[in-house]
Amino acid sequence: MEKTPYMSLSREAAAELKTELEKKYAAYVSQGLKLDMSRGKPAPDQLDICEGLFTVISKNGDVSDVSPDVRNYGGLDGIPQMKALFADMLGVSTSEVVVGGNASLSMMFDMVSRSVTHGVMGNTPWCKLDEVKFLCPVPGYDRHFGICECFGIKMIPISMTKNGPDMEAVKKYVENDESVKGIWCVPKYSNPSGITYSDDVVRAFAALNPAADDFRIFWDNAYCVHDLYDEGDKLLNILDECKKNGKADMVYIFASTSKISFPGAGVAVMAMSEANIAAAKKVMTYQMIGPDKINQLRHVKYFKNIDGITAHMKKHAALIGPKFRMVLDTLDRELSGLGIAEWTEPNGGYFISLDVMKGTAKRVHKLMADAGVVMTGCGATFPYGKDPDDTNLRIAPTYPSVDELKTASELLCLCTKLAALEKILG
Ligand SMILES: Cc1ncc(COP(=O)(O)O)c(C=O)c1O
Repeated sequence: MEKTPYMSLSREAAAELKTELEKKYAAYVSQGLKLDMSRGKPAPDQLDICEGLFTVISKNGDVSDVSPDVRNYGGLDGIPQMKALFADMLGVSTSEVVVGGNASLSMMFDMVSRSVTHGVMGNTPWCKLDEVKFLCPVPGYDRHFGICECFGIKMIPISMTKNGPDMEAVKKYVENDESVKGIWCVPKYSNPSGITYSDDVVRAFAALNPAADDFRIFWDNAYCVHDLYDEGDKLLNILDECKKNGKADMVYIFASTSKISFPGAGVAVMAMSEANIAAAKKVMTYQMIGPDKINQLRHVKYFKNIDGITAHMKKHAALIGPKFRMVLDTLDRELSGLGIAEWTEPNGGYFISLDVMKGTAKRVHKLMADAGVVMTGCGATFPYGKDPDDTNLRIAPTYPSVDELKTASELLCLCTKLAALEKILG
C-alpha cells in the first residue's frame, strides 16, 4: 500500500496509514535519540587521515628551502609553492592566485567588504550607492547570504535547475539592473543540492554583458576536488571561458583546503585576473603583513602536488561514500514512488538536498527535533532564512556514523510521510 502515491490514497487508507506511522514514530521518540544531521563537517576519522600534517614540519631545516622565510613577516599573497599547488587545483596560472589564511569565507567577506568601502576597480564604493543587490541561487549556502545581510545587500533568489542557476533569470537581472553587483555560485557539488553546473551554464555566465562595470561572479569552488566516485563531475573552467569573451575581470574564484585537510586550520585561496588581484592588494596591504606561511608550507610538504591531493581525496571518499549511499538508499527505498519528496543524488561534496511536500518542511524538521535528531534549520538555504514553499531540507551525511545515519534517515523518511499525510488529511 505504501508505494501508492499518497495523493491517490482514499481518505480512509491515508488515515489508517497515518495511525500506523504515528505508532512507529512514537517508538522512535521513546528511544531518546541524540543524533545530528546538520553539520557539514568532516567526521573525526576524516581528520585522522591528515595526521601527517602535524609532523611534516618539525625543525628549522624543514623550512629552509623557501623564500621568503616562512617564519617571518612577508609574502602577502602566499608562498610560491602553495600558489603552484592551488593553481593546479583550480586550473589557473600562479600569477592569478592569492593564497590567504585559514578560511575562504573570510576572503569572500573581505572581497565584499573592500567593494563596499573602496569600490571595485575605481567604481563607486557600494556604500555610496542607494541600493546594491546580489543574485542568490536557491537553495544555497547560508553563509553567503549572511555576508549580504551583514552589509545590507539586497538578495534576489534565483531558482536552480538540475544544470545550475536559471540563466534566463540571471541574464535578465545582470544585464538590465545596474544595482546587481554580484551572484553567489557554488558551481561544483553545490551546497546543498550537490549539482554541478553544466558547460552551457558556465558558458552562459561567461557570456554575460553586465549593466554594472563592477558586477562580479563569486565562484565559490569549495568542493572542486571532492568527488565521491572515480568518475567525478567535470566543471568547465570559468576563468578561461571569461577570457575567451574578453571578460577576465568578471569572476572571482574561491576555494580552500578546509575539507581536504582541517577545517579552520587549512589554507584558503582566491583566483582571478591579475588586474583584479592588483586591485584587491591595494587594500589588503593595509590589512596584514602576510598570512600564516608555515601552514601553507606544511600543506605543500604534505600533499606535494595535485596528485597528492587527488589521492588524499580518494581516502575521504572511501570514508564518506558509504554514508551518502546509506542516506540515498534509504530515501529511495522509503520514499520513491510516493509523490511526496524529491532529492538530489550528488557525485561529491558534502550535502544532499531533500524537497518534501510543499508546506511540510518545518513540520518534518520539528518531528525530527522532537525525536532527538537535529537537522539544518528550515529556510537556512534561502536568503533571509525564508523558504517560500516550506519544502527544502539539507542533509549533511558526513559527520554521523553509518549506523547513526541509518536510524536518522529512516526516521527522516517516516517524518516526511507523516507530515505529508497530516497535510493531505488537513
Ligand atoms: C560552499 C561553501 N563555501 C565555503 C565554505 C567554508 O569554507 P572555509 O572553511 O574555507 O571558510 C563552506 C563550508 O561549509 C561551503 O559549503
